[in-house]
Amino acid sequence: MRTRIAIVAAAALFAASCGGEPPAGPPFRTDNTVSVLMANMLDPAADLLWDAVGTVIDETGETYWEPETEEDWLQVKLGAMALAESANLLMMENRARDQDQWIRLNEAMADAAMLAFEAAEAEDPQRIFDLGEVVYETCNNCHTLYWVDDLDRGRAVEPGA
Ligand code: HEC
Repeated sequence: MRTRIAIVAAAALFAASCGGEPPAGPPFRTDNTVSVLMANMLDPAADLLWDAVGTVIDETGETYWEPETEEDWLQVKLGAMALAESANLLMMENRARDQDQWIRLNEAMADAAMLAFEAAEAEDPQRIFDLGEVVYETCNNCHTLYWVDDLDRGRAVEPGA
């Protein structure tokens, strides 16, 4: 009988711990909105990637540039890594607009950014140039769905719901 009571008590405890508040995790701060992250983290990070390799043709002729020093390459790596990790920030509670499409779009951005990071580690300017386009597409794919005048378009779930 004692064992039986113990089992019932354990079951009740288990039920309580499942149905109640989720276990407290680290005190993540999510006060910075998606818009603030975009303007102050993702956009400048992407510029480090997009501006790293390029060609300009003007009256003085053709000017090509690519990262040269270790310091230059570190800037590209910084941009790529910041983008890859910002996907995690965008998937956090309060920022994620839904739990499927939004998550997949962020994963696609993180994958593209990690390829760019590897290309920067390999110091491959052509690949950085090509992957810049791939990364841009992942930004654009999300913006077409979620950054539109009609704020509800593409949202499976209301923010915070
Ligand atoms: C998973 C979705 C998603 C991805 C990926 C994404 N964005 Fe955004 N972005 C948004 C949303 C949503 C907004 C509109 C924010 C709002 O107004 O609440 C936005 C807005 C912006 C803005 C305007 C910010 C402002 O001033 O309000 C910039 C700039 C921007 N994104 C840049 C980028 C760049 C660069 C990338 C890729 C490297 C990117 N975004 C990837 C969802 C995304």
